[in-house]
Amino acid sequence: MTRFADQACSVQTEIVENVSVARNTMRLRFRAPAMSQCVVPGQFFMLRNPAGNDPLIGRALALYDVGSDSSGDWIDVVYVVKGKLTSSLVKLPAGAPLAIWGPLGNGFAPPSAEHLVMVAGGIGQTPFLALAKEGLGRQRFGHPTPRPSGGAGRVSLVYGVRSAEYLAGVDAFKEVGVEVHIATEDGSIGPPRRVTELLAEVLDASPAATVVCCGPEPMMEAVCQLTAARHVDCHVSLETPMACGIGICFTCVAKVGSPNDWDYKRTCVEGPVFDARDIVWQ
Ligand SMILES: Cc1cc2nc3c(=O)[nH]c(=O)nc-3n(C[C@H](O)[C@H](O)[C@H](O)COP(=O)(O)OP(=O)(O)OC[C@H]3O[C@@H](n4cnc5c(N)ncnc54)[C@H](O)[C@@H]3O)c2cc1C
Ligand code: FES
Repeated sequence: MTRFADQACSVQTEIVENVSVARNTMRLRFRAPAMSQCVVPGQFFMLRNPAGNDPLIGRALALYDVGSDSSGDWIDVVYVVKGKLTSSLVKLPAGAPLAIWGPLGNGFAPPSAEHLVMVAGGIGQTPFLALAKEGLGRQRFGHPTPRPSGGAGRVSLVYGVRSAEYLAGVDAFKEVGVEVHIATEDGSIGPPRRVTELLAEVLDASPAATVVCCGPEPMMEAVCQLTAARHVDCHVSLETPMACGIGICFTCVAKVGSPNDWDYKRTCVEGPVFDARDIVWQ
C-alpha cells in the first residue's frame, strides 16, 4: 500500500490569506511547494503559530484545496475558531509566519463509485472539496505517480449545520459539479432536521451509493448505523485530538476491529480514514 505520509516534511512558511468564509470560520492559504505537489484528499497538516508558545503543540487541519497562481502553488485549510490555536490563528494577517508539518495520514482512496455521497457535519466538510475534484476528474493528486481521477459518476454533498450562517464553501462545491443538499438544525434552510434524515432521503433515491463521512463523533456514529443497516459502503474520517501527528504519542487512538475483538489504532498514521464497519464507537 502506498503510504502518502511518507513524503511528509516540515516547513516554516507565511500566511498568504486568512479570510472569513462563514460565521466563526476562516480559510487560510499558505505556500509549501513540496507539500502541495504530493498531498492527496483526506490527508492533513499539523499547524503551529511559531510566534508564541501556547499552544506548544500543533493542531491538525485537513487539506481543503490546492492550486496555483502567478506566485506558485498554494494550499488552503479551513478552520472553525474554537480554542487556543484557532483563536490565535484568526488574528494573523497575510505575511505572518506559520509552522507546518505534513502532509500526514493516509487519506481517502481515489473515488471509484457510480455515486459518491459525502456526508459532512459542520466543519467536517473540509476534506471533501479535494475528494470531489478528484472523483469528478477536475484535478489529479499524488506524486510521483498521480492517482486515478474521474472515477465517480456523480458526487453529492449532504451537509448538516446548526444554522445557515455556518455553511462554508457551498459555492466552491457547486462550481466543481457537486450536487449540494443542506440540512439545518434551526430550519434556516429547509425544515429543521439532522443530516442523517437528509442522508436517508438521498440514499432512498440512490441505494447503491458509496458514502464518506466527517463530522462530530455522534453524527458519524449515526451515519455508520444508517449505512450499515442499508448495506452501504461507508468510510469515515476521524478527528480525534492529536498531539504529534506522526505516530509517537498515542493521544489519537480509536478502537478499531469488532465489538469483541478490537485494538487501538492511531488515527494520525493508520487513519484518519477508516472503514466505518471497523470503528467501535465508545
Ligand atoms: C485529522 C484531523 C483533521 C482536522 N481537520 C480540521 C479542519 O479541517 N478544520 C478544523 O477547524 N478543525 C479540524 N480538526 C480539529 C483541529 O485539529 C483542532 O482540534 C481544532 O481546531 C481546535 O483546536 P484549538 O487549538 O483551537 O482548540 P483547543 O484549545 O485545542 O480545544 C478547544 C476545545 O475543543 C476540544 N478539542 C480539541 N481537539 C478536538 C477534536 N479534534 N475533536 C473534538 N474536540 C476537540 C478540546 O478538548 C477543548 O474543549 C481536525 C482534527 C483532526 C484530527
Ligand atoms: S497524534 Fe501522536 S500518535 Fe497520533
